[in-house]
Amino acid sequence: MTSSPATPGTRLASRLGFSDRVFVGPAARRVAKQIEDGLELVESGLADDLKVADSVADAASRYLYEAGGKRIRPVLTLLTAQLGEGNIPAVIDVAKALELTHLGSLYHDDVMDGADKRRGVPAAHAVWGNSVAILTGDILFSRASQIMSRYGDRAIRLQADTFERLVLGQMHETVGAQPGDDPIEFYIQVLADKTGSLIAAATQGGAIFSNASPELEEPLRVYGEKVGVAFQLLDDVIDLSADPGETGKVPGTDLRAGVPTMPSLLLKAGTDTADVELAQRIDEGVARIAEGADAGILDGPLAALRDHSATARTLELARTWTADAIAALEPLPKGTVREALTRFAESLADRSS
Ligand code: IPE
Ligand code: IPE
Ligand code: MG
Ligand code: MG
Repeated sequence: MTSSPATPGTRLASRLGFSDRVFVGPAARRVAKQIEDGLELVESGLADDLKVADSVADAASRYLYEAGGKRIRPVLTLLTAQLGEGNIPAVIDVAKALELTHLGSLYHDDVMDGADKRRGVPAAHAVWGNSVAILTGDILFSRASQIMSRYGDRAIRLQADTFERLVLGQMHETVGAQPGDDPIEFYIQVLADKTGSLIAAATQGGAIFSNASPELEEPLRVYGEKVGVAFQLLDDVIDLSADPGETGKVPGTDLRAGVPTMPSLLLKAGTDTADVELAQRIDEGVARIAEGADAGILDGPLAALRDHSATARTLELARTWTADAIAALEPLPKGTVREALTRFAESLADRSS
């Protein structure tokens, strides 16, 4: 028996994490079909853009792309581009360049976080070592810049400014809050910089490069940045509770490596004796792991943190960021694009990978 082709919108909706009720009616289905067609162009284009003449660089560059990924950033670019001229070449190229930037950042991030797995496979540094993983990330950033350079100053500027913010976000996360900084505010700024900046470039870029009305650019940028913060807050919760089969990552990777996450920061802000003790157990475990102890020694404390109110409060915080993201969409015309962006933000809290 041959399966019938999926109704336009079904695959897209599940990729974005909501049911396909958003794409009901002929106009909405046309939008969904456009995005799905655009995504195919992005996928096949990326496979070409990742080719490198050097054989090690070639294998390493396509490695994480072929391992999977949700392609959330290109989908958002294609979606907001429907407010303008849709899947024109500039939009497809910008969607590819932003996904390449994201991909490159994953190679570097896994080195920095000491992550063993990514997208269900061993992290690139576990296969080729740190140097090749870092250089592969650099190749991907170069490729993204090459693509953006075809579209002039505005595109080059968007790429360069976004990348600088992403890097500074990673830098601030690494260095940590300084005396006088509020640790929670500092961390939110880290999330806005390391993740919000690129998602904002994706939502804003779709409007810019599809020649949509310029008044839509700022609301879409603000939406993307806020959604990015919510997305990353949920990533922190997923880091604690993840089913590795779904996320392709090892649960607790960040915390075991001593990388701060919102649940751990909220826990540390508590003055309750039990909270202070749990925070101490986590810090001691991190220190022992750094000295070579088995990462499993933190299983118990991490399970306690998962069930702690600090994790529930992180989820609540994520919900306020998604509500603010949705509010930023007010200037957009009512219709499928606005509805899909709203549903995407709402469904983030249900995401599990
Ligand atoms: C992972 O991003 C890195 C973060 C910014 C949290 P995604 O969750 O979009 O990763 P992929 O592309 O689907 O693997
Ligand atoms: C990833 O942040 C952000 C960037 C790659 C810029 P995380 O380190 O929190 O994300 P995961 O959990 O490894 O995907
Ligand atoms: Mg990481
Ligand atoms: Mg990281």
